Amino acid sequence: MNGNKQGTALITGASSGIGEAFARELGARNYDLVIIARRKDKLEELARELKNNYSVSVDVIVADLSTEKSIAQVEEYIKKVKNLDILINNAGFGTRGYFSDVSPEKSINMINVHVLAPTRFCRAALPCMIKRDQGSIINVSSLASFCPIPGNAIYNATKSYLNMFSRSIQSELKNYNIKVQALCPGFAYTGFHDTDEFKDFDRSSIPKWLWMFAQEVVEQSLKALSKNKVIFIPGIKNRILAGLLKIGGKLCP
Ligand SMILES: NC(=O)c1ccc[n+]([C@@H]2O[C@H](COP(=O)([O-])OP(=O)(O)OC[C@H]3O[C@@H](n4cnc5c(N)ncnc54)[C@H](OP(=O)(O)O)[C@@H]3O)[C@@H](O)[C@H]2O)c1
Repeated sequence: MNGNKQGTALITGASSGIGEAFARELGARNYDLVIIARRKDKLEELARELKNNYSVSVDVIVADLSTEKSIAQVEEYIKKVKNLDILINNAGFGTRGYFSDVSPEKSINMINVHVLAPTRFCRAALPCMIKRDQGSIINVSSLASFCPIPGNAIYNATKSYLNMFSRSIQSELKNYNIKVQALCPGFAYTGFHDTDEFKDFDRSSIPKWLWMFAQEVVEQSLKALSKNKVIFIPGIKNRILAGLLKIGGKLCP
């Protein structure tokens, strides 16, 4: 554990899975935290635990990032943080079914959570990061961003957006000490596949060697931040798989 006091890290989707693992890791590294999600009880429990274990402050924001009201609330909050060192746009969810069958409302909600919120939070955070010439942004994307997968249209498209958006803003920031990463995990053991949407999904239908733990994803992501690589795929097996998906993507119509 690093004893030096760090700045602030703001993490969306911190009530479980990869976001929670980021909060634990950055708390241990002495970052003050702002943790955001819908489930207040989970966030408050995590905040209590981290404040007990480390000398950090933990602010909880209960927000549904599919709504304009919550996005605007978090956006305004970010503009006021003076020492935001790390912004992690991690909140996300999956749907199952063909685009023409999924309710338009679910698709719009996903676009809001995966695209609108991260875009507006980056825009809110960057002026201060640029002024301080310091900061990191991690936009949590997915291996699914590399290839069209039937039954995943909006998920694939929104995650692809995050890749191109991250690459584009990093190219605009090349003269600053600001790192942007699009983190592209493969299958990870989190709450992602525990929602109603995935009630008939069986984790064992995916080979065990393709799964990673959230903590591993987070450790590799933070380590990779120091390198100048925007698209980061945790896990060597996932990197091989990404290569195959890219080839598959080229073969798709
Ligand atoms: N697990 C995987 O296999 C996998 C693979 C590739 C990419 N990813 C990506 O990793 C990211 C984190 O997911 P995870 O795997 O850690 O799943 P998870 O355990 O289900 O965590 C998702 C987080 O997002 C939050 N969230 C979802 N909808 C939200 C909304 N409308 N407003 C605010 N927060 C919301 C959830 O909190 P509340 O429910 O409390 O709001 C939760 O904290 C997602 O962007 C996902 O697409 C996951």
